[in-house]
Amino acid sequence: MELEIPEINGKLKGRIFEIIREQADATGEDAYIVGGFVRDIFLNRKSKDIDVVTGSGIKLAEKVRKALGREAKLTVFKTFGTAHIDYRDTEIEFVGARKESYSKDSRKPVVETGTIEDDLARRDFTINAMAVKVNSNGFGTLIDMFGGLADLDRILLKTPLDPDVTFTDDPLRMMRAVRFASQLGFFIAAETFEAIERNRQRIEIVSAERITEELNKIMLSPRPSVGFELMEQTGLLTIILPELTALKGIETRDGVGHKDNFAHTLKVVDNLSAETGNLYLRWAALFHDIGKPKSKRFDPKLGWTFHSHEYTGMKMLKNIFTRLKLPLGERLKYAENLVLLHMRPVALSDEEVTDSAVRRLLFEAGDSIDDLMLLCEADITSKNPEKIRKFLNNFRTVRIKLKEIEEKDRLRNFQPPIDGLQIMEIFGLPPGPQVGELKIAIKDAILDGVIPNEYDAAYNYLMQLAAEKNIIKTESRTKNPSI
Ligand code: CTP
Repeated sequence: MELEIPEINGKLKGRIFEIIREQADATGEDAYIVGGFVRDIFLNRKSKDIDVVTGSGIKLAEKVRKALGREAKLTVFKTFGTAHIDYRDTEIEFVGARKESYSKDSRKPVVETGTIEDDLARRDFTINAMAVKVNSNGFGTLIDMFGGLADLDRILLKTPLDPDVTFTDDPLRMMRAVRFASQLGFFIAAETFEAIERNRQRIEIVSAERITEELNKIMLSPRPSVGFELMEQTGLLTIILPELTALKGIETRDGVGHKDNFAHTLKVVDNLSAETGNLYLRWAALFHDIGKPKSKRFDPKLGWTFHSHEYTGMKMLKNIFTRLKLPLGERLKYAENLVLLHMRPVALSDEEVTDSAVRRLLFEAGDSIDDLMLLCEADITSKNPEKIRKFLNNFRTVRIKLKEIEEKDRLRNFQPPIDGLQIMEIFGLPPGPQVGELKIAIKDAILDGVIPNEYDAAYNYLMQLAAEKNIIKTESRTKNPSI
């Protein structure tokens, strides 16, 4: 169906569209803007990715690059028949219209020339299967063969063809359905949903990188729980993240149950997402209780316990991050630390908040302390208003105390004022456990408030310890080397 829609022309203003139009007219071929850019016109979302479908993808791209000038960078992918232009903050992708977008057994696109109608039919969802003509003859005309506009209105994700065909073409589309539902608040049409359930196992042939790109977008959506619930309901989650589905369910013994840790986890992620867009903090929230199934025990006196689940959970993260191809360096460490420490502020607020406990927490959390507090506050999912009030109040006290101690002792990311090397020099000791013990004793004394976080105090304390342990100083005392 071809439609003239006034709001489209308004969105196709500017040099880039002018040039695509001129060059397409000059080559005498029809050119269309397709996919996400067209969808986003109607959703009023700004899109910097323009996909152009035309008879000769690469040829038009070369002409457009030339006309845009030196600032435009062209990359050609000959085997795929596609080309890419980077121009200022915009990326333009050129593709020849295709009959079949993907081969059956691999994700390698098969290039077989087709019409724009063929091309649109092989796309993922009707809302992404609309095209806008950009030649002078018919500039701005919308091609909507599958009712994409109506589905935008109905907030519905539906495949243009039989969903089994669309998902066989590229199984990642099952994740894309979930992602669009979570990110844009769309519903998945019943027959499309059922096809995801039927085809879910095919997700296994998709690379971890592509899946994780979708997972990251789900994590960054306003309420990530929408995406994870859908993944759970369709059966995708147990294939991709079985550690999360293991959190599901409530076991009852002697009439005593525990909370459903899956529902709880999703609530925590949503609570946190209302406060921060920090992706890895959100990931940490998703995994904060991941160790619970492994540490679950039933104690006839205490009921259900999850002792050390934070440690067990922290230990599981490396495996999960590796499998999902999430970054392993600092970001993994950051998430591990948050999972490991997430019970500490709770324990702190349960008892008298001592300076020494606060110092230790500050030392161990370092720069993540504020994020840790956000996670702990998000972790309150009780429905009992009295309990919520008590927890929030306690965390407020912890925060005040953290601030006081931080200002007084400057402990965030602190390094003890005397390190192992200095200890070895002072006493002529070889590397070994004795050096480590002395180092830890200094650190503990500072954290426990026995001595201030200063070189002279640490030195005197070290001498006192050495005297008790009969360790003899071999070097005359030097000045504070850090001064
Ligand atoms: N597409 C598809 N199947 C895929 C990926 C993409 O059919 N597995 C088509 C859709 O028509 C989509 C277009 O290619 O609209 C562009 O894909 P992409 O840039 O990945 O997604 P967008 O829809 O633009 O959305 P976003 O930018 O949010 O990822």
